[in-house]
Amino acid sequence: MGMTATCRAHPNIALVKYWGRRPGSPPELNLPATGSFSMTMGGVHTTTTVSVEPTGADVVLIDGKPAERRAYDRVVAHLDRMRASAKSQPHLRVVSQNNFPQGSGLASSASAFAALTVAANEVLGLGLSGREMSVVARQGSGSAARSLFGGWVLWNAGSASEGSYADQIEPPSHLPVVDLVALVSRAHKKVGSGEGHGLADTSPLHAARVASVAPVLDEMLAALARKDLARMGELAERDALAMHGVMMTSSPSLLYWEPGTVEILHAVRAWRAEGLRCWFTIDAGPNVHVLCHGDDAPRVQAKMRALGYEGDRLLACPPGPGPTLLREHLSG
Ligand code: DP6
Repeated sequence: MGMTATCRAHPNIALVKYWGRRPGSPPELNLPATGSFSMTMGGVHTTTTVSVEPTGADVVLIDGKPAERRAYDRVVAHLDRMRASAKSQPHLRVVSQNNFPQGSGLASSASAFAALTVAANEVLGLGLSGREMSVVARQGSGSAARSLFGGWVLWNAGSASEGSYADQIEPPSHLPVVDLVALVSRAHKKVGSGEGHGLADTSPLHAARVASVAPVLDEMLAALARKDLARMGELAERDALAMHGVMMTSSPSLLYWEPGTVEILHAVRAWRAEGLRCWFTIDAGPNVHVLCHGDDAPRVQAKMRALGYEGDRLLACPPGPGPTLLREHLSG
């Protein structure tokens, strides 16, 4: 058992979304209603140091501050899950740092639970494989299952817990894409995805979307294999709109979009009509991810700047790597 380990992991942006859990499954398992597909995001990351804590309780610091109750409980529940299969069950100290805003529709829970899983696997000496860590990370946050891998990643829904994990389909270098993220709002979202997944099947549209996902994933993977970014972009836009259709028609209704969100959706389609290769997708928040061909990214970025998205309102993320263990540890 090592005393200290530090892992850096990246969030991911889903091009085919996870929204809603497998009917009848225990919510805490985060078994999804469908498979999903994502690009791991470079340039943004969570760095997490896990060490053995000599005092009588787990300690969790996030971005320099003691974690709030809910976040603390979620991290400790994850540590308990991992300690259950370890030879010894020490208290642990978790120090975590994000270089992007939490709770803003960027999947900070994905990079956070991926980094936590990999670092705790080291400290507890569990020796889990990437796939096994994907199963564990999924129970911390569903989308974290995908952040266990870099590049272009498929999460197979599976029917039981051990069968629900992600795999890398292609490495980051497979496609020259840049995800330009417009930070429409940094406000914490009122309804997080955890709660939202539980509402999905109150929407009359959910069953239709679920039925559509398997063929969409097949088409997405075929387009990925032939490097057909245009088809991938079209499928990603449509699935994002289908997911938001489900969200908006749930009871209660979830309306994550702000006026600025809609402005960018129209702009992206206008830019595409001008010949720029760019497509949008949106997670459970108001921010818009504009997926562009790398060659067109500077022109798309200039257009986004003209809409006010520059400086700390814009992120530019190429496909990123899987989690890496670092030699330098965070203090705190
Ligand atoms: C809209 O993984 O955040 O980003 O499993 O409750 O942590 P929990 O949910 P989470 O849900 C992600 C929802 C999404 C779509 C996606 O990333 O696939």
